[in-house]
Amino acid sequence: MRQKIAAGNWKMNLTLDEGLQLARYISNELDIYSDTQVILAAPYVYLKSLSDLTFPIRNLHIAAQNCHAKESGAYTGEIAIPMLKSINIEYVVIGHSERRAYFNESNAILKEKVDALIEQDMNIIFCCGEPLEVRKAEGHFDYVTEQLEASLCHLSPKQFKQVIIAYEPIWAIGTGETASPDQAQEMHAHIRSLIGEKLGREVAESTSILYGGSVKPANAQELFSMNDVDGGLVGGASLSGSSFLSIINAFS
Ligand code: PGA
Repeated sequence: MRQKIAAGNWKMNLTLDEGLQLARYISNELDIYSDTQVILAAPYVYLKSLSDLTFPIRNLHIAAQNCHAKESGAYTGEIAIPMLKSINIEYVVIGHSERRAYFNESNAILKEKVDALIEQDMNIIFCCGEPLEVRKAEGHFDYVTEQLEASLCHLSPKQFKQVIIAYEPIWAIGTGETASPDQAQEMHAHIRSLIGEKLGREVAESTSILYGGSVKPANAQELFSMNDVDGGLVGGASLSGSSFLSIINAFS
């Protein structure tokens, strides 16, 4: 059985008080007996407070939105994986299209981060997805294949257990335009078959693949009902407690 996951990506939003209030709301309202795993990806400076707050709740986890691949050293302004581990963070989002676009994170840099995270026993939420012009030219399958092959497919089946994939078509992020359930399903099935080819069927069947890009309460249920869509990575709609909660509860 693959894990059902609702992950919220707060990006560079909310103050500490607002973030804590939101996390408190989610932790109070969440069905702790549910199989759905909930992850909140928050700014670095709030991670410790959030992990202290949510620590006792078995299906609520806190994620960093990035990390540096090196263990320590002269990298002013960066955050290393052992620092995250020292405050009980177990999940890290990497390869978000905003990091790729605005901070020049290449497939090669992401491969280094993947390797460092695997080595340190962290769970990875690895983002991939094509820009609009690639989709229009019908190059989206090849584009995503290349992202995964370049940064992720070298892992062993055992290492791959630490990986969650988030497919986020760039044209759907923050635009209000969502991939249709069929478009999402088609790409997720493609990704699963690629994993099957590279790492074997068992790994493919057990890897959670999330959809991201304007997931909202109104479309979550239909998206999550698709065979290969195991949940969502949610930006804007995760900043409101009630919206995010209805997305969490959208798994049928
Ligand atoms: P969005 O963002 O839900 O606001 O489109 C998704 C993401 O970037 O993870």
